[in-house]
Amino acid sequence: MSRYSPAMTASWALPLSLLLVTAAAQEPTPVILWHGMGDSCCLPTSMGMIKRTVEENIPGVYVRSLMIGPNIIDDTLNGFFMPIDAQVEEACQKIAADDSLQGGYNAMGFSQGGQFLRAVAQRCPSPPMKNLITFGGQHQGVFGLPNCLGTEGVCEIVRELLDYGAYESFVQSHLAQAQYWHDPLKQQQYVEVSQFLADINNERDVKNETYKENLNKLENLVLVMFSNDTMVVPRESSHFGFYALGQDKVVVPLQQTPIYTEDYLGLQQLDTDGKLAMLATEGDHLEFSIDWLVENIINVYLK
Ligand SMILES: *[C@@H]1O[C@H](CO)[C@@H](O)[C@H](O)[C@H]1NC(C)=O
Ligand SMILES: *[C@@H]1O[C@H](CO)[C@@H](O)[C@H](O)[C@H]1NC(C)=O
Repeated sequence: MSRYSPAMTASWALPLSLLLVTAAAQEPTPVILWHGMGDSCCLPTSMGMIKRTVEENIPGVYVRSLMIGPNIIDDTLNGFFMPIDAQVEEACQKIAADDSLQGGYNAMGFSQGGQFLRAVAQRCPSPPMKNLITFGGQHQGVFGLPNCLGTEGVCEIVRELLDYGAYESFVQSHLAQAQYWHDPLKQQQYVEVSQFLADINNERDVKNETYKENLNKLENLVLVMFSNDTMVVPRESSHFGFYALGQDKVVVPLQQTPIYTEDYLGLQQLDTDGKLAMLATEGDHLEFSIDWLVENIINVYLK
């Protein structure tokens, strides 16, 4: 009787697997956080507070705030000086290796963490990201960095590099913010040399269908813009809006940009399917109350 018998196996395996499925269905969907520039995974006053708020509002939820690098200091510095592709790759590996995330997860990205998590959705579809919420993200990049959130020494280096030229190859390779620098007066150069944003926005001449497919696997893409944001230039970048090309005064909404009209990223598709939400809230960059977060994000998209 050493022969494998599917019938016999099924007789006891079926109820067990049903039990597991039922148990798993009751677990709340885990949440991944990715911090912004000058911040780190674990400050009690920033990502720590968000983590706590999600945990208090969704009993039993698993929340992981991503750390890029081996410790908090490296995590902070990597937000400035580690190539974004490498950061995204590290995030993908950490998510894929985390047993608690294998059934899928929701993601919340703060400031640049927003477009970085979008890259995770587009490049690393397994395990699946369900809802992606970005807060003050720079989805169309920035043309200006009026405030640098970081120590004076770090910010000095950032300013010097940007002054030297965001599209110089040395700067592209060494400054994360240069990799989402978007000069509407130099669109062609941006499309060619931007190491991160032009790729993830599918703006190169050869489009990547996989990005479009993967982005459309999201249940919802929720873009939060801060109506009085003085950090993100233009602030509409948080909603995928940007300057009409060739000038830097008039900003047009997503629906009037080629990214949408030609739909090479799949945003028009998401919109048509009712899966693209654009929220605006008063306040400067990342200024929101816990009540606002609970009412508009946690209760609506994470429960
Ligand atoms: C498209 O993106 C996927 C996911 O990152 C990647 O594996 C693939 O190589 C890309 N294809 C092209 C043509 O760049
Ligand atoms: C913030 O922006 C909103 C919408 O543009 C505007 O109505 C409001 O007056 C602004 N608040 C401040 C304090 O600037």
